[in-house]
Amino acid sequence: MNIQNQFEQEVFIESTERRFSEQNLNPELSVHIFSLLSGEEEFQPHNFLFYSLREVFEYLQLSHDYYLNTCIPQLENTLVQLIEKTCINHRSTQMYFLLLNNYKNELIDHIEKEERVLFTYVQSKLEDRQVSDVDMYAINYFLNSHNDNVVLEIDQLKADMLKQNTALSNEFSFEIMFRQLEFLQRDLAIHALIEDHVFIPMVLEQM
Ligand SMILES: [Fe+2]
Ligand SMILES: [Fe+2]
Repeated sequence: MNIQNQFEQEVFIESTERRFSEQNLNPELSVHIFSLLSGEEEFQPHNFLFYSLREVFEYLQLSHDYYLNTCIPQLENTLVQLIEKTCINHRSTQMYFLLLNNYKNELIDHIEKEERVLFTYVQSKLEDRQVSDVDMYAINYFLNSHNDNVVLEIDQLKADMLKQNTALSNEFSFEIMFRQLEFLQRDLAIHALIEDHVFIPMVLEQM
């Protein structure tokens, strides 16, 4: 690992530790997710059998909140800075920004849909409330159609952008934006594994 990557890894570990210590999550689950994010551990669904539906649900809710209220606004800020500095008149770069904006919107849309349907359903179950026919229909439809394919080919995108507009390589905010995207995608990948292979099976079991 080179010095820059090592430094980034340390920054990542520090900020992730801080984030988890501020959240009110089951401490064992926090440690567990942290070791997945830092790459110390490989994901195995059976390692999550000890946690309750409520605990896994809390992790998913907190991470959605983190994506919507921390990661995406940070990414938007960096994008605005970059657009202001370099790319107002550069057509291909403008096109890539549209693509990034689209990715962001898709991600927000995915999260919102999940919260409206899946989280509402689980919340009702946890509070022992009756689920209406419409909500039941919505959850069945959701479970049959959900996939976590909102993924961006970051390395390819970066290479393409630089090829079309070499001036971007001098921009600090260009590097920052790709670091933010990498951290976000790493986090989202773990989130999706837990959602699809731990949480949804738990929900199905209790239906
Ligand atoms: Fe999610
Ligand atoms: Fe999802």
